[in-house]
Amino acid sequence: MSQILHVTINGTSKEIAIEPDEILLDILRREGYKGVKRGCKEGTCGTCTILLNDKAVKSCILLAAQTENCSIITIEGIGTRDNPHPIQQAFVDEGVVQCGFCIPGMILSAKNLLDNNPSPTKDEVKMALDGNLCRCTGYSGQIKAVLAAAAVMRGEK
Ligand code: FES
Ligand code: FES
Repeated sequence: MSQILHVTINGTSKEIAIEPDEILLDILRREGYKGVKRGCKEGTCGTCTILLNDKAVKSCILLAAQTENCSIITIEGIGTRDNPHPIQQAFVDEGVVQCGFCIPGMILSAKNLLDNNPSPTKDEVKMALDGNLCRCTGYSGQIKAVLAAAAVMRGEK
């Protein structure tokens, strides 16, 4: 039997009809948040990463019903083409976006890190991106991009 889920997505309050067994990933994509990517669907690749109450989580291993009254941020909520978030800009500047499939999740994991630790070490960035797999790159550029974004966000660049 369907139920109504009350959530805030990217700052907008929503009431969404869901089935009790639906996972959050599928609900978000159905609602049009296609930046939430469907990869492994078993919690290992990180392409479905979102911020749930400001914490990076994998939306494929959460029931939508578990997010009642929560705040959700997807990649659509953190920047636009004309006004990108500093992390998005740094990924572009460093040239580390290839196919792009992993990038939304990776940027949200990086945002989660920088919101809590504005001056991370390289190892701390590595740890933060540990759950986000990329088939195209060697990760070093993305780590460099996060460190560059951190400097911009600290007002140093
Ligand atoms: S699709 Fe969720 S971790 Fe891979
Ligand atoms: S850029 Fe293609 S999977 Fe990461």
